[in-house]
Amino acid sequence: MNDRLFIFDTTLRDGEQSPGASMTKEEKLRIARQLERLGVDVIEAGFAAASPGDADAIRTIAETIQNSTVCSLARANERDIHAAGGAIKPARSGRIHTFIATSPIHMEKKLRMQPDQVVEAAVKAVRLAREYSDDVEFSAEDAVRSDMDFLVRIFTEVIKAGATTLNVPDTVGYSIPALWGERMKQLIERVPDSNKVIWSTHCHNDLGMAVANSLAAVMNGARQVECTINGLGERAGNASLEEIVMAVRTRKDVFHCDTRIDATQIVPASKLVSTITGYPVQPNKAIVGANAFAHESGIHQDGVLKHRETYEIMRAEDVGWHANRLTLGKLSGRNAFRTKLSELGIVLDSEEALNAAFARFKDLADKKREIFDEDLQALVSDEGYAAGQERYKLVSMKVCSETGEIPHAQLVFTDDGAEKQAAGDGSGPVDATFKALESVVNSGAELLLYSVNNITSGTDAQGEVTVRLAQDGRVVNGQGADTDIVVASAKAYLHALNKLHSKRERAHPQV
Ligand code: KIV
Ligand code: ZN
Repeated sequence: MNDRLFIFDTTLRDGEQSPGASMTKEEKLRIARQLERLGVDVIEAGFAAASPGDADAIRTIAETIQNSTVCSLARANERDIHAAGGAIKPARSGRIHTFIATSPIHMEKKLRMQPDQVVEAAVKAVRLAREYSDDVEFSAEDAVRSDMDFLVRIFTEVIKAGATTLNVPDTVGYSIPALWGERMKQLIERVPDSNKVIWSTHCHNDLGMAVANSLAAVMNGARQVECTINGLGERAGNASLEEIVMAVRTRKDVFHCDTRIDATQIVPASKLVSTITGYPVQPNKAIVGANAFAHESGIHQDGVLKHRETYEIMRAEDVGWHANRLTLGKLSGRNAFRTKLSELGIVLDSEEALNAAFARFKDLADKKREIFDEDLQALVSDEGYAAGQERYKLVSMKVCSETGEIPHAQLVFTDDGAEKQAAGDGSGPVDATFKALESVVNSGAELLLYSVNNITSGTDAQGEVTVRLAQDGRVVNGQGADTDIVVASAKAYLHALNKLHSKRERAHPQV
């Protein structure tokens, strides 16, 4: 059996389906660059037919990425396939991933189609997709609740129509490892010419078994796993890339296959996705959680000091921990700054943007002695990355917070370049800041989440604040970073407002 396991990353598509995780084109591009550095085989960059913005982001990623295949999702209909085909056109290597539901409940209640019509639509979609690319993936949505004979039938027909990867999704996270492995095994045994295609699995985590189910499929012949960084994704998420990759690498004796992933890029990828989406990583999360390699008990510490492998099955540095080398300091110049950004895969699109980022870096270096890679990532995320595109921008602020007194905030910010003043009281300095901003902006947005994380360690570390706002059914996350967490909070709030504003602009572009 082939010993290469392909990694298909869907952070930018299924991951983006997490509430509030929607990303701007620039943010998607940054993640795509990091995924390429990580060595993923396929980047599912979005769903082109979903919106012109999605199609544009996929096209830009396709133009930029050289060493990973760039893929667009498409339902099994002509319009979606044309949109996907157009979006991946500039890619050096492009894939169309078309899907249709195959379970009785989905066919009857959602599609309102007969099984024969579903097979016909799948075959037509694959044939049309092949006109755009030789690399076509077909997914049988809700395969977990689909009839086995029907799956064999539809997979047989799409192979004849030209599909090169067949994906078996557990769309609702319903399976368990023994059953999922068996399903993969039977499909490979029963579908004629199954050895001519790559079998893939795509598992959701509703019962906490997405990784276990994916690995069971691998043990039974799947050679592509669809997964996301940090397990981000619809509802309880998808199988987490880092866990899949490190499981097969650490237990080669069991899986007999490996990926081409550069594991030292895993932690940077995890941090980048967390920063951009505002989804923090739980401290005890395998591989990428802050405590994943921390030993608390004396017995464990003693053991590790005597012989690391007594309690460690992987090395922290192999997955990219401790890679946060000291990067720059107060005296670093513009060239060193530019070089460091490009090493981190951050490309600023104009000299003006570079100058603005450099000014922010100097500002930070005045407050913080040591600047790490993560600080730079936060610094560029912080201001919306694409300089000049945001409507609201913080100019300055002053907050008074004293025992026994009502906290008061005063802010100066710009709204499309025009300076505005805001003042407000609140139950704490952050509450006062948000109330002050709202008193002028009047967005009426509902605050769904507020969280603070430290970017690096130490009391001089930057605090990174995530604010999740909802307005008219739209949910966005805003981030802000600063050594002062109240300033970081104001930036995060304005960043979220900017995202709401740009979503509104996209939905109702002004003529
Ligand atoms: O979960 C699912 O079934 C999907 C398909 C589109 C592959 O995301
Ligand atoms: Zn999915």
